[in-house]
Parts: sequence; C-alpha cells; structure tokens
Amino acid sequence: MIKVEHLSKTLGEQKVLDDISFQVASGEIVAFLGPSGTGKTVLLKHLIGLLKPDCGSVMIDGKDITQISQKKQLEMRKDFGYLFQEGALYDFMNVFENIAFPLREHSSLSEEQICQRVREVLEMVDLHDVETKIPSELSGGMKKRVGLARAIVLGAKVLLCDEPTSGLDPIRSYDISNLIRQVVKKIGATTVITSHDVENSLRIADRIAILNEGHIEVMGTREDLLSCPRPFVKEFLKPSSVAL
Ligand SMILES: Nc1ncnc2c1ncn2[C@@H]1O[C@H](COP(=O)(O)OP(=O)(O)O)[C@@H](O)[C@H]1O
Ligand SMILES: [Mg+2]
Repeated sequence: MIKVEHLSKTLGEQKVLDDISFQVASGEIVAFLGPSGTGKTVLLKHLIGLLKPDCGSVMIDGKDITQISQKKQLEMRKDFGYLFQEGALYDFMNVFENIAFPLREHSSLSEEQICQRVREVLEMVDLHDVETKIPSELSGGMKKRVGLARAIVLGAKVLLCDEPTSGLDPIRSYDISNLIRQVVKKIGATTVITSHDVENSLRIADRIAILNEGHIEVMGTREDLLSCPRPFVKEFLKPSSVAL
C-alpha cells in the first residue's frame, strides 16, 4: 500500500507539490491526470525516492521511504517497476538483453532461468519474435510494451507508469492502456499512472486524481469525477465527457 501525507516540494521558484495526501490500496490502479507541468512526474519520482520532499511522508507498505538509508532505498527499489515516459530502453541492447538486464543486476538466476523469465514477460505483454531486435527497429507501441515487460520482470509489487500513452496514436493508446490493466491485475501490482490521456485513464484506473497547481482537485472513481461540480474538473473532463 502507498500512503502519502502532506507532501510538499518546491523546485526553483515554484511550489510544484503543495500539501498532497492520498492512498493507493494494494493491487489498486490510480491515475494522476493534469495539464502538463502540474507535477505528475515530480510526484512519481517522490514515490520511488528519486526526489526527496521538503516536508511530508511517503509510506510504502508501512515504511517511510523518505527516512530510510540510501542502501535500504536501493534494496527497496527492486520491488518497484518504473515505466519511463520515453521508454528509456538501452539503444545498444536488443529486446532480450533490455529485459534480462534487471535480472542480471538483481537476481542470481541461471541463464536458462533468465531466458524463461524473459519469455514469460514477453508473453504477458503480447510480443512475439522480437527478442533479437534493437529498440530502433521497434514501433512506439512495441517500445512501450518492452518497457512494461522490463518494468515487471523482477515481479514489481509497485508499478509506476509515467505517461504510458504519450506519443502513441489513439488505437495504440487504447491497446497499451488495456494491456497495463490486464498485466497489473494479473500480477497484483499496486499501480500509479500519470497521464494527460483522460479517456483511457478513466477507463482503466480504479480511481483517478486530478492535479492542479500542486494540489489534488478531486480523487475518486470515474463516476465521482464525472459528477464532480468543481469548475476546473468539469472543464478538464469536458472534451471526453461527450464520448463517454
Ligand atoms: N529538477 C527540476 N528543477 C526545477 N524545476 C523542475 C524540475 N523538475 C521539474 N520541474 C518543474 O516542475 C514542474 C512540474 O514538472 P513535471 O512533474 O515534469 O510536470 P508534468 O509531469 O505534470 O508535466 C514544471 O514546472 C517543471 O518545470
Ligand atoms: Mg511528466
């Protein structure tokens, strides 16, 4: 479970996060929506300890990760999968080696076990015959799938996905969103997604939060959001409400 309390962070002159509190239950998918520059990525980085808050706490399964030693933090990160916005695959490694990398770094599996695990996660993200391709030979959607496979290969208890549909056309965005839901519900990962993709987020997340100028405007189920009377929320959801 993730429990964030009174999290604040100023970067440069800007108070990017201003007294944010929320919880994500075990196995739940929560999406953070908001216009670009509202602090979605900054928030995700706090959840994995890449940024330290000015004040507030980030509890992961009862441990405040802002208070533990760097060594413990690195240890804990093995339980985290992080799907980066740009995919962040290693250009010089093929798909197999990209996905095998965390296993080689953080497990003592044999070569045969590594092969088996890589095949297993490729199957989960519905990719076939791509093991020897290098990232530049893959489409945008396939890169995201490889990124997802790599993020879950160590068995992510917590999965963080930064803008998983950015740069994709509507059909690929729909597909990768469905795939994320399918995969995380299968492995039971506690999942936080950031996105500006309103329709797909409302469709696949269990709960959704809308960030605005450093605070949470609203957090709840799709129905809660669609019936929220706050002007900012109504305006933010407007283009998609017709299609829902
Ligand atoms: N390392 C940094 N130093 C200074 N400002 C930063 C840094 N990282 C992010 N910011 C600022 O914080 C704000 C939120 O950024 P970000 O979380 O990337 O937005 P989002 O992901 O919602 O588009 C932006 O105004 C950005 O310029
Ligand atoms: Mg971002």
